[in-house]
Amino acid sequence: MTDPRVSIIRHRLGSVATVLAFASGKGGVGKSCCSTTAALLLAREGRRVGLLDLDFHGASTHLILGIEPGLPAEQGGILPFETAFGLQYMGIAPFTGDRGVALRGDAVTDAILELLAVVIWGELDVLVIDMPPGIGEAVLDIARYVEQIRIALVSTASMLSLRIMERLVEVLDAGHIRPAGCILNMGRPDKEHSAQPRLERDLKILGTVPYVPELEEEIGKPDRLVGGRFAAALAPMLGPLITPS
Ligand SMILES: Nc1ncnc2c1ncn2[C@@H]1O[C@H](COP(=O)(O)OP(=O)(O)OP(=O)(O)O)[C@@H](O)[C@H]1O
Ligand SMILES: [Mg+2]
Repeated sequence: MTDPRVSIIRHRLGSVATVLAFASGKGGVGKSCCSTTAALLLAREGRRVGLLDLDFHGASTHLILGIEPGLPAEQGGILPFETAFGLQYMGIAPFTGDRGVALRGDAVTDAILELLAVVIWGELDVLVIDMPPGIGEAVLDIARYVEQIRIALVSTASMLSLRIMERLVEVLDAGHIRPAGCILNMGRPDKEHSAQPRLERDLKILGTVPYVPELEEEIGKPDRLVGGRFAAALAPMLGPLITPS
């Protein structure tokens, strides 16, 4: 039997033009910083933007936004929280209150379906999704249940990170999903290191975001974050990510 939530998800996301998920092969490469900053930058431009945190074990976008969400309001579903620049936020943090969650296997898929089915996003230009690291349930489920999905990959320029990212590209390929491009994060400014890495798979490198030591001070302060060097380096990559080529 088909899960009834699948058709509810289609309805809930029916007025969302683009869904852009930030994923990576390796953990800790900067997905949450990139996804949250991208969402804030797009919202500041006047677009209607949502941010959905699907990293249940490592939920961190609420920390980057500097919010402590309580339980959300209900209205035939649950309403996202309005944050800086009108950005709409939802994740598991409002329900778990920053405590750890022990979800695995089917329970992860269940929680993802539940969140997608229950949140009333309304009309959005872009719904940004922050994914957990690796090729787990979340990536496979999103690829399966969200029709308008676009994937932004984040990697460091290290061969270790790039190779694992290419494995993720392979898995997505099997599901007929071609990533919109790859952001190289925490790059070194010197020329040799910012050169295009050699990839075994055909993948568009969108650019390099340098290592920005002051990013730590910008976390939790959206106004400073969008005006900082991290955001400035990321901003030119957003056009290609949300515009189908
Ligand atoms: N360009 C950068 N310059 C400096 N620090 C950075 C940069 N990008 C990310 N960081 C820092 O690196 C750490 C990891 O970033 P982040 O949490 O965004 O990674 P992630 O890929 O979401 O991790 P996870 O896989 O655990 O979800 C954070 O402490 C973040 O502040
Ligand atoms: Mg993260």
